[in-house]
Formats: sequence, structure tokens, C-alpha cells
Amino acid sequence: MFAVNSPSCRFVVLISGRGSNLQAIVQALRERVPSAQVCAVIANTAGAQGLAWASEQGITATLVPHGDYATRNQFDQALAGAIDAHRPDYVLLAGFMRILTDEFVEHFSGRLINVHPSLLPSFPGLHTHRQALEAGVQWHGCTVHFVTPTLDHGPIIAQGIVPVLADDTPASLAERLLEVEHQVYAQVACWLAEGRVTLDARQRVQVQGVPTRSYMNMIAPQGAQAE
Ligand code: GRF
Repeated sequence: MFAVNSPSCRFVVLISGRGSNLQAIVQALRERVPSAQVCAVIANTAGAQGLAWASEQGITATLVPHGDYATRNQFDQALAGAIDAHRPDYVLLAGFMRILTDEFVEHFSGRLINVHPSLLPSFPGLHTHRQALEAGVQWHGCTVHFVTPTLDHGPIIAQGIVPVLADDTPASLAERLLEVEHQVYAQVACWLAEGRVTLDARQRVQVQGVPTRSYMNMIAPQGAQAE
């Protein structure tokens, strides 16, 4: 059994929409590291479905609408204030669709984590599934990483892959990958909660007790019945 360094690790999760990664994280922490907690969910868009889900779960759900702020800096300052009020150990970006200022990223340096739906460093930015199909890659994936001021870049904590199928569309590929995202991000949240994740002198991630941090979701061959 691994010794828990941070027995009551606190997370704030930032979302912009559906919140399925949020749900996977909350459920995994409840089951595997119950001493940890998602103490707040913050969204930048009023319609974010994940906010309603968080409320139903008894998690503080806050809206900080980016449209209410004249500049990116003002929004990021308001967002940082709303996050800091909860004194989180880590801030998890889970489908948070805003580019953050360098000042914001520096403020949460070493505590800000993101999931990106590609195998970084390939396909940063938007429309990653379309980018993957256009490039003709045969494997697609997701990356959970520490956030640095460079967009979709930073020390990699874990990655997951799925095969690309001949008749895939961006939507079908996204759907297949989302399952892996949930597994990988939920696992990373548990490692963070257990205090296992560190950066070495070369800014590479170490996870105590976990030498390999790659995930694969194989699909059943055509015609085979999935169990
Ligand atoms: C995920 O695919 C995430 O990687 C991307 O946006 C999607 C968010 O999904 N950035 P959800 O809100 O977690 O369901």
C-alpha cells in the first residue's frame, strides 16, 4: 500500500461543457482515494452541463462567465481569485476551452493539469480528431500533462491510445478516445491525491511506484462480440 502524503488533497476542476471527465475524476476519487475531494467546479460558460451535475453531487459549482470581463487578464484574475478561495492543491482543466494568460499559468505553476485529446506533442490546439484523420495516423490518443505557458505543452503525466479505424469520422474517433481520457485522467487525479507525482530536475514527471504510464483501449475485432 502506498503511503499517502497528502491525505486530504483538494482539487478545483475547471470545465466549459459536458463535464464527463469531471464525473470520471469525482467517481474515481470517491472510490479509490476517499480522503481527497473535488471542493469546487468552476465553469466559464452558463450552459456547462457539468455545473448542474456538480451541484447535484453536493459539490460547490460556480460560474465565472468570461463574457463579463473586458480583457483576458481581468477574467483570469477573477478566475484565479475564485479558485484560490477554495485553497486547492491542484487545479484540473477538464474540457476548459479558454486560453489562459501566462500570469495565470505561473500563479498555479506545478499545480495546474490539463487533458488534451491528442498524443502530444502531435496535434496541439483545436480539432485534434480531424487533424489526426487528415494526417493518416493509425493511433490517436490523449495526454494528461502539467500546464506551461506554451499552449498544449508541458511535462507529460500519462497518455492513452486508441486505434484509428478506416471509416472513422472526427466524432467516432472522439467518442472512442473519450473512454480512455476518462481512465487516464481519473488515474492521474488519484496519483496526485496520493502525493505520488513529482517533477525531476529535467522537468520530467515521476510517479512513485508507477514506472509505466501508458494506456491502451483495444476495440474488439470486426464481428466479435465485446464482453
Ligand atoms: C474532452 O475530449 C477534452 O479532452 C476536450 O474536451 C472534451 C471535454 O469533454 N478538451 P468533457 O466536458 O469532459 O465531457
